[in-house]
Amino acid sequence: MTTARAIRLTEFGGPEVMHLDTAEVPAPAAGEVQLRQTAIGFNFIDVYQRMGRYPLPSPTGLGHEAAGVVDAVGAGVTDLKVGDRVVYMNAGVGAYAERRNVPADKLVLLPAGITDEDAAAVFFKAMTAQFLVKKTYHVQPGDIVVVHAAAGGVGQILCRWAKALGATVIGTAGSAAKCEVARAAGCDAAVDYTQADWVAQVVAATGGRKARVVYDSVAKDTFLGSLDCTAPFGMVVLFGGASGPAPLIEPELLNKKGCLFLTRPSVFPHNADTATFRANAKDVFDAMASGAVRASIGARFRLDQVADAHRMAEARANAGAIVMTP
Ligand SMILES: NC(=O)c1ccc[n+]([C@@H]2O[C@H](COP(=O)([O-])OP(=O)(O)OC[C@H]3O[C@@H](n4cnc5c(N)ncnc54)[C@H](OP(=O)(O)O)[C@@H]3O)[C@@H](O)[C@H]2O)c1
Repeated sequence: MTTARAIRLTEFGGPEVMHLDTAEVPAPAAGEVQLRQTAIGFNFIDVYQRMGRYPLPSPTGLGHEAAGVVDAVGAGVTDLKVGDRVVYMNAGVGAYAERRNVPADKLVLLPAGITDEDAAAVFFKAMTAQFLVKKTYHVQPGDIVVVHAAAGGVGQILCRWAKALGATVIGTAGSAAKCEVARAAGCDAAVDYTQADWVAQVVAATGGRKARVVYDSVAKDTFLGSLDCTAPFGMVVLFGGASGPAPLIEPELLNKKGCLFLTRPSVFPHNADTATFRANAKDVFDAMASGAVRASIGARFRLDQVADAHRMAEARANAGAIVMTP
């Protein structure tokens, strides 16, 4: 038994409900390893879960993603050893911690060329981009793709990866400065979607053809506009709700807008079994090695500054990923 500092929620609510506590960490059980965590990734889902918008069974730990070093190995674990560098993104909440036990089958070994910090900045977000561009809609050369919140953590990775697959990428973002970030992340054009005529600007940027696929993680403020940016028989992929839940629509609206397809996918079912998870992780590491995916770290915090990290994200003050050091 050892002790480690970890963020605990006392209740659901604003950033103030997160507290840094010291908790006991038992020796790893069979099938688990104990990690000394070195870098923790912030993801917007952490905000939804802290607020209670994506329900957790009870107020508990928080965070889905971290990189670290294996410090102890439980019975039956044969493919990892003390000293291995690893990363995870689907081992349940509790990543906001110095140390934790994690099922070995939820870990992947980090290639030598990827730092712990870059891994924590990229892994969850790139695993999301991976299923979005390869599975939910398989991006093809020549496709026109629209990515909302293109200067964000997932957004930048999604833009780079879609571009590497041969698409024309139109990004949207919340300011002129963030549009510059989106262009630097591979967008052929970028539109400030805080402007009233953003839909017309996006359609103009497609040359009037509209998009084969719109990746929408903003939802409340963008969803109806996304339908108008999508070409007939195209797909709207609603995969988050940074501005709030999407408005409810009648299915008939999809017909009126051009026989559109609408889906609402999640990264977790796409990585539910170990073999698929490991294959997807390899795809992400290969994309990092080729340069199609790269870390873009916008801000760094210590774990005891976690409330500031959440405030920054909710204020839309960051571009790229936020990483925390235990
Ligand atoms: N379905 C899945 O499996 C899955 C997995 C991972 C992430 N996601 C979703 O992907 C999105 C991006 O995640 P991320 O961690 O990389 O976050 P992020 O993009 O770095 O941050 C969210 C961005 O959303 C934009 N936004 C628009 N309206 C907002 C509002 N009212 N409040 C806050 N932000 C607003 C902001 O960019 P601008 O200032 O440019 O508007 C903000 O930077 C999130 O919606 C997340 O839930 C989904």
